[in-house]
Formats: sequence, structure tokens, C-alpha cells
Amino acid sequence: MSAPNLHWPDTIFSYDRKTEVIYTCDAFGMHFCDERTFDEDLEAIEADFRFYYDCLMGPNARSLLTAMKRMNDLGKIKIIANGHGPLLHHHLDILTECYQSWSQRQAKAETTVGLFYVSEYGFGEKLIQAIGEGIQKTGVGIEMIDLSTAEAQEIQELAGRAAGIVIGMPPSTNTAAIAGISSLLAVVNNKQLVGLFECYGGDDEPIDTLRRKFIDSGIKEAFPAIRIKEAPNASTYQLCAEAGTDLGQVLMRDRNLKQLKSLDVNMEKALGRISSGLYIVTTKKGNVNGAMLASWVSQASLQPLGLTIAVAKDRAIDTLMQVGDLFVLNVLEEGNYQELKKHFLKRLTPGADRFAGVKTQTAKNGSPILTDALAYMECEVQSSIECSDHWILYCTVQEGRVSKPEGLTAVRHRKVGNYY
Ligand SMILES: Cc1cc2nc3c(=O)[nH]c(=O)nc-3n(C[C@H](O)[C@H](O)[C@H](O)COP(=O)(O)O)c2cc1C
Repeated sequence: MSAPNLHWPDTIFSYDRKTEVIYTCDAFGMHFCDERTFDEDLEAIEADFRFYYDCLMGPNARSLLTAMKRMNDLGKIKIIANGHGPLLHHHLDILTECYQSWSQRQAKAETTVGLFYVSEYGFGEKLIQAIGEGIQKTGVGIEMIDLSTAEAQEIQELAGRAAGIVIGMPPSTNTAAIAGISSLLAVVNNKQLVGLFECYGGDDEPIDTLRRKFIDSGIKEAFPAIRIKEAPNASTYQLCAEAGTDLGQVLMRDRNLKQLKSLDVNMEKALGRISSGLYIVTTKKGNVNGAMLASWVSQASLQPLGLTIAVAKDRAIDTLMQVGDLFVLNVLEEGNYQELKKHFLKRLTPGADRFAGVKTQTAKNGSPILTDALAYMECEVQSSIECSDHWILYCTVQEGRVSKPEGLTAVRHRKVGNYY
């Protein structure tokens, strides 16, 4: 059965009627490995199953829905023998239902960004996936097209309807991809946003020439062109994800404002009476660091000592706050927090160092402690609950200290509940 774009242009599924096994190549996979051959432990695989879907399948949700429709017509399926991770058998219904509902949601996304790249050149695919992940955090849908294999019509269809366009520069020798970009340029319009990046493959087509063409046609840049001078590492991917989030946030801004304005005023005021403290979450994973001002923090358990933090899905720090990740919760002091608050609310360009100019020490868990905070706690993310536009993270506290025993926590009083 032909199943194009999952995740290659020529992907096929093979169904064996006798054993009722369907071989799905990359679809339904996950980057997960343990001793077990099958999916008996749903809890163990859920997060990886979702992450793999978001990165590799979500961008082609329409193709996936078509493939699943064809799959249903084949006959009974006992096992999905995917190309990565455990074979799906025990939880087939749940896992295929997940694919169905995620793809329907993705295909229905009102705003879409078209991602155009060359999969077999440089780091194009990994970089575009990082940008795509950042975009998806904002609720904007993405669709990916490989410029070297796609038909001009396909490229133009997506480029004409997408609200944003991201292009990974192909090598100047790839004539098919260069021709693909020319077809794309013929249909773009000045209401769209564009983002460009280099693939780091040695001889990328010059980015400035293309950038100029977009600017001359009145199209705004969503983020500064990403120029990659050395082999990409974790910070490069973080930078790409942040650039993608910036693009998504601009596209969603008007819609989000409209939704906030439509809330009932009395209800908003009542909700605004929920008060909380003011904190800065700081973290470091490998050579990537992050920080966020937070007020939606609350103690949640006594044994072990635990707390929850609500983190918006489009926060840059989200990727550093996954289950198992370590961080520090810094408590701000009443009467002495304005500078830190201002610093950590400053909008930075993607990839910039959040801690430049701030006094820090390193915690045992490796995250920065803010020297001027009233207290700090070293924490670990234990679990997360998806709550519409936020993740609620349940975290345990390993250790902590107060720097001024008489100091009081800064408190946040609000007038309305439709912002922090
Ligand atoms: C007073 C205040 C409290 C905030 N509390 C939270 C919070 O609890 N959770 C959250 O996700 N964002 C919260 N924010 C928003 C983020 O701190 C801020 O937008 C973020 O640091 C910018 O990060 P970004 O680069 O990921 O957009 C708060 C903002 C303010 C002004």
C-alpha cells in the first residue's frame, strides 16, 4: 500500500493477510528500546510515541490520515510492525486512535507554516525538525516538503496557502531544489512571514540573495536568518526551536488577543483574586541553559516534598523541563525583585544567553542559582499533565536554602485572571 510522505516521499506499508501483520516503515514508530519486543507497557512508551509523532509524522498529518483510511480497508490488523521501537499489539486501539486524533487536530489547524528543505543535504532535516517543533508549541500547524523530490504544483499549493514559510538552503548544485524555490517565489504574498536557515552541508545556496528577494516582495522576516558556521549542536537546535516559536507566536498573536478579549469580565476579575509568589526557574542541560519568570507555582505534596509549576506550551524553557530534568526554583524577595524580574522578562533574540550580566552560582544539580534570590530549591520534574495551553509539572524538591531568614516572598496580586 502506498503511503507517501511518511516520512519519505516513497514510503510503502506492506500487509500480510495471513498473519494480519502490517509493516509500516517509519509510521507508528518511536525511538525507544528495552528488552521487550511488544508494547505491553503503555506508560513506558507513551512519551516517546508522542514525541516521534510530533517530529516525524505530525508535519504530514494529511498524508497520515489518508494512509490510515487505506489501512482500515485492508482487513483486521493484529500487529503493527513499525521500523523503530516495540511492535504494537497490546494497545493497538489506543495507539492508532492517538495517531488519528493528533492528525485530525493537526490537519484542522487554522494556521499553517510550510517547511521547505532538502532531506539528504547537510543537517537540513534535523534543523527543520527543531524549527517545526518550536512552531508547533504555539498551536500553529506545520507541513513539510522536500524540495528535491516534490512537484512544482505541490510546492506552490503549500507556499500559496501557508501563513509562514521556512526554507533550508539547498546546495547550489541541487538544480531540482533551486527550481523548487523559484516556483515557490512565484506564489508567495506579502501577508506571509518567512524564515531562512543554512543546512551546514558545505555549499549552501547563498542565503542573502534569497532573503533580498523576499524582502523586496514585501515579506517580513519572522526571525533573523540562521547562519550555521560549525556543525550543529544542542544550542543550535535550541536556537532553531526558539526561532520557530517566535514565528508561531507572531502568527497566533491576533487570534490569542481576540480570545482573551471575549472572556466574561466578572469571571476574569474573580480569577484575578488568585494570588501567588514570584519565582525564576533556572536550568542547564548540557551546554543549553534557560530561565523563566513564573508565578503559577504551588506546593503540591508533603512526602516527598513536591510542587507544581504551570509552564505555557510555547515557552522556550519547555524543552529543558521534561520528565527527569533538573532545575532550580529561585524565590524572589518582596521589595527587591524588580531588577531580576525585568531582566528575565526581556525579549531576547533566539539563542541569546539568558544569564549575561546576572550573578549566579552553580547548584549541585548543575543549574544556575540566582545569587540575589531570597531562597532556592533544587528540583526534578517527576510528571506532567497537559492542561490546554500549559503543562502542569509536578516536581520533587531535593534541597534548598534561604539566604535571608527574615526575608518575605514577593507576592503577585492581579486585577484579572487572563494573564499571569
Ligand atoms: C508576573 C509574571 C508571571 C509569569 N508566570 C508564568 C508562569 O507561571 N508560567 C509561564 O509559563 N509563564 C509565566 N510568565 C511568562 C514568562 O515569564 C515570560 O513570558 C517568559 O519568560 C518569556 O519566555 P519565552 O522566551 O519562552 O517566551 C509570567 C510572566 C509574568 C510577567
